[in-house]
Amino acid sequence: MSNLKDKLYEKIENWRPRTQRLLDEHGDVVVDQVTISQIVGGMRDIQCLVTDISNLDPAEGIRYRGFTLPEVFEKLPKAPGAEFPYVEGCLYLLLTGDLPTQTEVQELIDELSKRRILPRYVYDVIDAFPSNSHPMAMFSSAILTMSRESLFAKKYEQGMRKQDYWNPMYEDSLNLLAKLPEIATYIYAKIYRNGKFIESNPFLDFGANFAFMMGIAKPYDDVSRMHFILHADHESGNVSAHTGHLVGSSLSDIYLCISAMINGLAGPLHGLANQEVLKWLLDVMEKMGGRVPSEEEMKKFVWDTLKSGQVIPGFGHAVLRKTDPRYLLQHQFALKHIGDETIIKYVDMLYRIVPPILLEQGKAKNPWPNVDAHSGAIQWYYGVREYDFYTVLFGIGRSIGICANIIWDRALGYSLERPKSITTEMLENIAVRSKKI
Ligand SMILES: CC(C)(COP(=O)(O)OP(=O)(O)OC[C@H]1O[C@@H](n2cnc3c(N)ncnc32)[C@H](O)[C@@H]1OP(=O)(O)O)[C@@H](O)C(=O)NCCC(=O)NCCS
Repeated sequence: MSNLKDKLYEKIENWRPRTQRLLDEHGDVVVDQVTISQIVGGMRDIQCLVTDISNLDPAEGIRYRGFTLPEVFEKLPKAPGAEFPYVEGCLYLLLTGDLPTQTEVQELIDELSKRRILPRYVYDVIDAFPSNSHPMAMFSSAILTMSRESLFAKKYEQGMRKQDYWNPMYEDSLNLLAKLPEIATYIYAKIYRNGKFIESNPFLDFGANFAFMMGIAKPYDDVSRMHFILHADHESGNVSAHTGHLVGSSLSDIYLCISAMINGLAGPLHGLANQEVLKWLLDVMEKMGGRVPSEEEMKKFVWDTLKSGQVIPGFGHAVLRKTDPRYLLQHQFALKHIGDETIIKYVDMLYRIVPPILLEQGKAKNPWPNVDAHSGAIQWYYGVREYDFYTVLFGIGRSIGICANIIWDRALGYSLERPKSITTEMLENIAVRSKKI
């Protein structure tokens, strides 16, 4: 067993009694109450999922294993001269709750590198797609097709003790995560580079290898590390994480879970918002003939979008009630390195202009920018101009957190998810009864 797996085993063994005690001694304690508007309104804020990997505070933003993102960036080991930490260190932290040493990160880099080779048929599946398919459909299918590799599925068929489920899930997760950069860059090459694919470099870490395969020079390795770490997890209730957990709750293998979560991420109200932001920004830039608009001109664009019934992509959030720290970290990076670029000036201007407009409109509960308001502009500057691809980048990062979650779901024996639905008539009757009381 690797050191990481040994450590994880120890953590799991120590954690299990906590979950068991909650069930045995406090199983009937009431945690939350549910209103009709929450039921009809997408189960917003109902506390009914458990995760220890990350937690989202509406005012503060996300914490990974108790650490804010600035702390994560500061404390995780970095490559010499790098501004952002190794992605592998983030995976280590999310899995164990511990900050790894340089040696521990290097072991994980080596471990993933050994597992990075893609089976031949994955390339064939990607090649079989029409070139005008959306890259998220290709990404999801390429992952799905590898379900036949699942060690969990094989062990389950042979018969396995419930407390051992996490072990093949861990192996499957590392096998899958190691392959994601290659799947993504192969899709990128097929759609946008006439199939000119760059093979992976086994001596590079996750972020650097991704930049290498994209064919983009430094500091894109660091940009990739920042991007993947920022997107890794956002607690359990968002569409992608919840989908991964839901599918996993029927003991589906990790390939089925991650493919499913990618499909949820591909919707415009979730991960696809990063592509929508760029599309919208480019539209404004074109109308402005490439120049930076005046604030009055930009306000008109924002209002025109709202009046046409569309949302302003990249703004608002189902849980956050402040500017997303993932936005702020990207904004800091952009102002430091590429602040003079027109596209960054647009993003910066929108940060000043959109929130007051959304407040004036009076609908959005959170007028502030989220992670997607910024990520595309940085990618655009560093040469990834094909905005359809941006959600794939989000998906690589998000897979890290979801794999960590699903390994722990299985380690703690979380049950099949099966909430109860009711009819509209039942709700109406409940409403009437509550008025009479
Ligand atoms: C993220 C989002 C889906 C959250 O949805 P939510 O929890 O239902 O948000 P709210 O409760 O604030 O929505 C209340 C109203 O404000 C509107 N609203 C929210 N954000 C808005 C935005 N950015 N632009 C315009 N209107 C917005 C909603 O569409 C809703 O309108 P409705 O009552 O006519 O249906 C929503 O803010 C949104 O669509 N944002 C743009 C897409 C985006 O950036 N997604 C990525 C999220 S990380």
